[in-house]
Parts: sequence; structure tokens; C-alpha cells
Amino acid sequence: MHEVTEIRAVDWADGPEVGMVLIDQTLLPGVERRVVCVTVDAVVDAIERLVVRGAPALGAAGAFGVAVAVAEGERQGWTVAQLHDQVARIRHARPTAVNLAWGVDRAAARLAEGVDAVVAEGRALMAEDLAANRTLSRHGADWILDRLDHLEPLDRGGPGAPVRVLTHCNAGALATTGWGTALGVVRELHERGVLGRVYADETRPLLQGARLTAWELARIGADHVVQVDAAAASTILGGHVDVAVVGADRIAANGDAANKIGTLGVALACADAGIPFIVAAPLSTVDRHTASGRDIHIELRDGDEVVRWAGAATAPDATEGFNPAFDVTPARLISAIVTEVGVVEPGDG
Ligand code: MRU
Repeated sequence: MHEVTEIRAVDWADGPEVGMVLIDQTLLPGVERRVVCVTVDAVVDAIERLVVRGAPALGAAGAFGVAVAVAEGERQGWTVAQLHDQVARIRHARPTAVNLAWGVDRAAARLAEGVDAVVAEGRALMAEDLAANRTLSRHGADWILDRLDHLEPLDRGGPGAPVRVLTHCNAGALATTGWGTALGVVRELHERGVLGRVYADETRPLLQGARLTAWELARIGADHVVQVDAAAASTILGGHVDVAVVGADRIAANGDAANKIGTLGVALACADAGIPFIVAAPLSTVDRHTASGRDIHIELRDGDEVVRWAGAATAPDATEGFNPAFDVTPARLISAIVTEVGVVEPGDG
């Protein structure tokens, strides 16, 4: 067991400043700073700039964002229509992670009951997400250990050898309400004493893997390295990992899954290498109203995130960046989708 204080990326503060509290993830790993959002403008800005990010964390931020809107509306004397307009701004601040709209809608259903009721809904959502993360992590670890047991020992360094994992982006405590989804599965393996080396893709362009996943893995004392995204395929085909585990921002009804750009390449490499590719997410990320991956709205972010770093140009001034934030992995490439209610195996392999 590793005693590590659980990270709370999103929370509600009752005082002295009442509002939504966020760990500013844009500053990690160098600076650990919390910000308190007390206006809708601040909530929308925090979501757009990725101060808070990751699908389940966005669900909680959406719910507490509604509480911020109700409190601000009371201070400013907004009409009901004005309040709904402000809530809609939060709901649409980012398009791909279904959890944001889900969290907003769930909290907005209690809007007429006042701030306390909306905050209570946000807290309930958080508790449920945390419990879901813990449960799905156990399912994921069980599935991996069972699957790897059936591989020829030579494929992975002998029976009972530590499980070597590749992950992409950050689907840990910072991306959720605590513990994590994909990184939750990794943590579960770590707690069981069967985790080998973790290969964390750095995750261009905003480096959630290098800045956030590595930070979380270091906190729990897990053996890990950060690699450039372009190394993932050769790491997988070179036999350095036994399994890839990623999170998701939206899972369509047919099992196609949107996740951070670069995930699709990892899935293709796993299929070629014949190792499992696993998507771990709570049920709140499954969107039954989206038929397939083709219907998922992929966020196109500012090209400057690609062609500039820390204020300096990394490409000629006249060159524009192309910056889709997510890609879609077809269900046929996914060995297992792990949620809190169990595991489904949509893929061919
Ligand atoms: O743009 P972000 O940082 O909000 O991206 C979302 C993600 O963190 C990932 O896609 C993650 O793997 C799934 S969300 C737990």
C-alpha cells in the first residue's frame, strides 16, 4: 500500500471565498496552485484553457459551474432566461468530452432549488465518479491479469512477470474526481504489486502525459518513463509493453472511442503487435445518443499550441498549426472497454 494524499482537481469551497476550486493544471508539474472560480466567465475560461481538463473532471466542473452561475445570478439579479444562457455557455465550453454536458445537465435539473441543492448534486456526482473509478480499476486489472495469464510466457518475460503498460495523455486523478480511469487501472496493478514499467506518452502539444501523468506516477512511486508520442509504435512492436490502457472523452453507442490525439496510432500498433488495447472510462463517458465515432465532434484547438511553445515560435511565423485535440479509435481496434459495471470486448482481437 502506498499512502498518498488523493488529488482533488475539482472541489467546492464554502468559505471564506465561495466557489469552485480547481488545481491549475496548466502550471503543473512546476507549480501547485489552486484557483477559485466565482463567476461564469472564470469557469468558462478555466475549461477552455485546460486549467481543469479530462472528461470526468469536466463533468464535476460542469456541475459546480452551474452552482457558480446560480450564485452569480443571485448577486447580479439575472432573470431565469439569463441564467440559462450562462449555464449554456459552460455546457458548450468544450465539445468532445460528453461528461461536461452531462454534469451541467445533471446539476441544472436542480437549478430552481438554489445554490445549496446544486452544490449537493455536484458533490454526489463526485462521490459516484470516485467510486466508479475504483470499481472500474479493479475490473481492468482483473481483465489484464487474466488475459496475460493466457499468453505464452515467452511473450512477456515469464508467468507472473510484472505488467508493463503504455498509456497516452492523462487519465489519472487530475482528469477525474480522484484516483483515475486508465491510470486508475495502472494504480490498481501497482497496489497489487504486479506493475512493471509504465511508458507514458508525452502527449503533444500540451504534454498532459509528461507534465501530469508522470507527476502522478512519481507521487505513487511507480516505475515510469516518458517517451515522445512518436516512440509509441516502436515501443509496442519492440515488445517493451504488455498492454496499452487509455481513457476516453466520449464512447459512442457502437463502441468507437474518442480520446486525446495520438491514441489511434497506439491502438493500431497494439493490433499489429497482438497486445491488448484497453479503454477505461466511467459509464458517464458512454454516449448512447452518439451512434458512432463519425458523429463525435472533435475539438479543433488553436494552431498556436502546435507551432509555439512558452511564447516562442517552433515553426516559421507564416506556418499555421493544425490542432485536432482528439481522435477516434474504432471499436474493432479496442480489446476491452472497462467501466464500473464490467468489461465488454468490442474488438476483433
Ligand atoms: O484535452 P484534455 O486534457 O481535456 O484531454 C482529455 C484527456 O485527458 C484525455 O483524452 C484522457 O485520456 C481521457 S479523459 C480521462
